Amino acid sequence: MKTSAAGRRALGLARSFLIVCAASSCQAFARTDGLEPSRLPAERRAEYNLFADRCSRCHTLARPLNAGISREGEWRNYVRRMRRQPSSGIAPEDEEPLVRFLVWYSANRATAGGGEL
Ligand code: HEC
Repeated sequence: MKTSAAGRRALGLARSFLIVCAASSCQAFARTDGLEPSRLPAERRAEYNLFADRCSRCHTLARPLNAGISREGEWRNYVRRMRRQPSSGIAPEDEEPLVRFLVWYSANRATAGGGEL
């Protein structure tokens, strides 16, 4: 069976998270571009995981996190534009949770970490 490049990358990423967790009880973070998942409220984690997966394929997470966007309509346009890029890996049903996370993040940047980016 052939594993896709994206699949291999996801595996590698999962592995590096495991190593980070084993070495430091999940206090440190890998490839999160300044946002610290441990500081997110529990109800935001699933959305964050989706965001970290879908929005890191072509650029760093810092790109959306630092874009200075806060309005919901604007995020919606961006998420849609990114989804329509060739092989974005973003499904139409991903839009809602992604927009929810990004709007929440814009309003809670200071407590979510990443404010110093
Ligand atoms: C298929 C590749 C791809 C994926 C996946 C992707 N992006 Fe992008 N993104 C780009 C490219 C290419 C640009 C630069 C060109 C542009 O602005 O359209 C960009 C630019 C951006 C910008 C503009 C930043 C600036 O400096 O103006 C934002 C915001 C952004 N992406 C957010 C996201 C979000 C949020 C996601 C996840 C939903 C995402 N991107 C996923 C390719 C991608």
